[in-house]
Amino acid sequence: MRILALESSCDESAVAVLDADGGLLAHEVFSQIELHRLYGGVVPELASRDHVQRLLPLLRQVLTRAGTTPAELDAVAYTAGPGLVGALLTGAALARSLAFAWGVPALGVHHLEGHLLAPLLEAEPPPFPHVALLVSGGHTLLIEVRGIGAYRVLGQTRDDAAGEAFDKTAKLLGLPYPGGPALAQIAAQGRAGAFEFPRPMLDRPGLEFSFSGLKTAVLHAVRDQVLDDRLRADVARAVQEAIVECLCVKATRALEQTDCQVLTVSGGVGANRQLRATLSRVLAGRGARAYYPRPEFCTDNAAMIAVAGLARLQAGQHDDLAIGARAQWPLDTLESIA
Ligand code: KG4
Ligand code: ZN
Repeated sequence: MRILALESSCDESAVAVLDADGGLLAHEVFSQIELHRLYGGVVPELASRDHVQRLLPLLRQVLTRAGTTPAELDAVAYTAGPGLVGALLTGAALARSLAFAWGVPALGVHHLEGHLLAPLLEAEPPPFPHVALLVSGGHTLLIEVRGIGAYRVLGQTRDDAAGEAFDKTAKLLGLPYPGGPALAQIAAQGRAGAFEFPRPMLDRPGLEFSFSGLKTAVLHAVRDQVLDDRLRADVARAVQEAIVECLCVKATRALEQTDCQVLTVSGGVGANRQLRATLSRVLAGRGARAYYPRPEFCTDNAAMIAVAGLARLQAGQHDDLAIGARAQWPLDTLESIA
């Protein structure tokens, strides 16, 4: 089976072709970062308009790179939610139309299931069952993954997502949009111990997170100070340490609670080097192991949508002719195909 996958849930237009035997044949991502930079965040209407312009040229490019023709495709998968509904509709309408024209089935994929299954794209995929730490701009979740579609949310954030915490504190430091990668980059030059920020919820049992207090803590720390590069780096280092420690402690606790030795890490923040280094060290000391997708499969992409779509199509699932797009879509309502 060979499938085409489209992703357009937020500010990345992405297309991929995945073959059940030959693996990932080609994938492309066009990021709208430049488009939204001026506004300091994603503007939904601009995102939708840009997807409309980008998706078809990307599709042509990917089909050429994959060395495949539409006649060789068995299905079309697309991100059906959760996400910005206008942005989702552009990919959903295109995917559904292509599938109709080519006479093949279409399937709407859950964006977070895509992130969860992204580690399966690597040469050494994680075994099931495992615990997933899904850390992106919109979500911070610990999930017990017993199989594809068999998800139990163990804990999540009460307020800001981890990526949001990176982005918002970066904005306070005057770093360029999007803040997460910029903050991570300068954190490497920060001095250890120059600042110490709170680690909320660590003193409490359970697997919930809270990151919204970090912004206030950073505001207090830099108030009345000259924001030069040295101060920025020191604060960035302390912010990153606080976020990484919260994620590591709770992820380790989730492994303990589920008596599991395997953790996967996905979503944009999963690309963070400090998070990877710390988690790998902590888990190695406990005889457990972390699996990561390569950084380009941590942030939004269509390869992960293809993996999730292929698994479900192979299990015989597909949608009717309706164009599906859901702004909200609880992960634990998905059908298990295990
Ligand atoms: O998964 P993603 O591309 O989009 C969502 O579905 O949200 O994640 C984007 C988030 C942003 O908040 C971005 O700042 C953050 O991931 N991010 C990072 C890094 N790379 C991306 N945060 C910290 N360190 C990074 N290296
Ligand atoms: Zn995402």
